[in-house]
Amino acid sequence: MIRVRDLHKTYGHGGQDVHALRGVDLSVDEGQLVVLKGRSGAGKTTLLRLIAGLLRPDSGTIEVAGHAVTGAKDAELVELRRSTVGVIHQDFALLPLLTAEENVGLPLRITRVPTADRDARVSELLDRVRLSGHARQRPDEMSGGQQQRIAIARALASRPPLLLADEPTAQLDSETGASVMELIRALVVDEGTTVVVATHDPALESFADAVVHLEDGRLS
Ligand SMILES: Nc1ncnc2c1ncn2[C@@H]1O[C@H](COP(=O)(O)OP(=O)(O)O)[C@@H](O)[C@H]1O
Ligand SMILES: [Mg+2]
Repeated sequence: MIRVRDLHKTYGHGGQDVHALRGVDLSVDEGQLVVLKGRSGAGKTTLLRLIAGLLRPDSGTIEVAGHAVTGAKDAELVELRRSTVGVIHQDFALLPLLTAEENVGLPLRITRVPTADRDARVSELLDRVRLSGHARQRPDEMSGGQQQRIAIARALASRPPLLLADEPTAQLDSETGASVMELIRALVVDEGTTVVVATHDPALESFADAVVHLEDGRLS
């Protein structure tokens, strides 16, 4: 599902270069849940954004579900994210003026999925994340754990075969975090979704098929 070869990414700011990734190799097979661990600043978010095509590497290659991400045109990357890669951002990135159901349905609205199909999918997703009773609430009327589950539901709206989750439990207490991870684990088991979870929390490793460690810009 993911093939990353010799990936390099440097952020440059007025001579102060930050070598975020210095030769990362990673393979993730279909249906695997991989935990990408590393301390804050290790480059986890950078790697996830590169895989999602939200950021361009300096060198190296990335292949996702058979598509070459490196070298793809912007429009092809937009299409890849619509069809193949669901992203859960660390800060949830929910739209504050939209209700839970509107946030979840947004990707389907953008791709012009017919209203009846969209409504059916949204209701199925809200059910899946156990928030059916909160469909009309806005993000600021929900707890952190509920917002996190809405962000997961939205990332899954278009049934992406690959889900990238950036610190999905960072803002949750350990019990809520574990229930969010159980939800993600169930996706892998029930739907064969491939998942990469970036985290600095060792407690998440028990949910993983494989754990990779990012340190000094390299994986081990
Ligand atoms: N847009 C950016 N501009 C400059 N430096 C950045 C930028 N994004 C991240 N970095 C730096 O790159 C390194 C890796 O960051 P990041 O990928 O966010 O790590 P993590 O997600 O593991 O905390 C850090 O040193 C961070 O300060
Ligand atoms: Mg990060």
